[in-house]
Amino acid sequence: MSEWRAIKGLTIAIDGPSGSGKGTVAKMLAEETGLPVLDTGLLYRLVGSVALARNISLENEPVLAEFVESLLDVITWTVDGIYLNGDNITDSLRSEQAGDAASKVAAMPAVREKLLGLQRKLARKGCIMDGRDIGTVVLPDAPAKFFLTASVRERARRRWAQLKNKGGSSLDAVVAELKMRDQRDMERQHAPLKQATDAIVIDSTTMRADDVVDRMLGVLERRKLITASV
Ligand code: DC
Repeated sequence: MSEWRAIKGLTIAIDGPSGSGKGTVAKMLAEETGLPVLDTGLLYRLVGSVALARNISLENEPVLAEFVESLLDVITWTVDGIYLNGDNITDSLRSEQAGDAASKVAAMPAVREKLLGLQRKLARKGCIMDGRDIGTVVLPDAPAKFFLTASVRERARRRWAQLKNKGGSSLDAVVAELKMRDQRDMERQHAPLKQATDAIVIDSTTMRADDVVDRMLGVLERRKLITASV
C-alpha cells in the first residue's frame, strides 16, 4: 500500500544526466505515491538498438524518422517497459551499446518529434516520467519538476558497480564514456538536457536514494500534490 495519495492526474517530471539515479528514485517515488512510472530513455534506446540491428544508419535523420513511425505501430510502452511485437524487450535495451545508439538518435529533432506525442498521451492520466527534456519540453506544465544530478565520478562509479557483474569495463573507461554522453545530451540543439527554470535541483552525490525520495515527498506534500493516506 502506498503511504501517500497523489491528486488526480498528477505528473512529476524527473530529468538529469545518465547515472544520476533518476530511474531508482522514480521507482521508489512510484511505490510511495501509487503513481505509474514511465522511463522515456527506453524509447530512444529502442530506436537506437533496433536501428542498429536492422543496419539503419544512425546518421540518416529522414530515414530514421520514418523508421520511428513504423516502430510506433508495433511497440507498446508501459510501466513494465517496452514490448515489441508482444515481447518485453526492456532488458536488452539496458546495454551500453543501446545507450550509446540512443544518445545519437536522440539528437535528431525529427526522431524526438515523432516520440513526443506518445509521451504526452501516456502522461495524461498522471505519472512520474523520467528523462532529459520532460520538464522543459514533454510536460512543461507539470506541477512538480526535479532535476537530479551527481558528480561525473559518482555517476560513473554507480554505473560501474552495475556493470562489474556483467564483465564490464574499467571505472576510467566508464567516466570517459559518461562524459561523452553528457556532452552529446547537453550540447545538442534540439531539446538538450537542461534544468527547467522551475525545477528543483537535487545533487545526489553524497545522498542515499531514500533521502532523495524523502526530499521529493516533502516538496510534493508542501505543494499539496500528495496527502498522507489513512
Ligand atoms: O536515460 P537513458 O540512459 O536510458 O537514456 C538513453 C539516451 O536517450 C540518453 O543518451 C539521452 C536520451 N534521452 C533523451 O534524449 N531524452 C529523454 N527524454 C530520455 C533519454
